[in-house]
Amino acid sequence: MIRHAIVIDRDGIAHNITGRDGDSIMQLARAADLPVAGECNGSLACATCHMIVDPDWADRLDPVGEDEEAMLDTVFSLKPTSRLSCQIRLSPALDGITLNLPA
Ligand code: FES
Repeated sequence: MIRHAIVIDRDGIAHNITGRDGDSIMQLARAADLPVAGECNGSLACATCHMIVDPDWADRLDPVGEDEEAMLDTVFSLKPTSRLSCQIRLSPALDGITLNLPA
């Protein structure tokens, strides 16, 4: 089943990205040519996949783990709903999740 997410870029333009259950938002955003580096390919060692989750969706995510929290601590533009997008995977519950690229 194809699922989707919406990533809002720095100009406020919404990009609909699609994938399957288990695909990470970071992978899909990169495949869509959005400016998401994802330098460590999802191994929680870079924080270049930082995104800000729309508050309406933030509570539906699993809590931030210790390793993710440690990497988020290195992010300059941290917001209350900041997450590492490599740790967010499409699923039925997250179909349509909306995230913003940091400034
Ligand atoms: Fe490096 Fe997400 S891609 S922490």
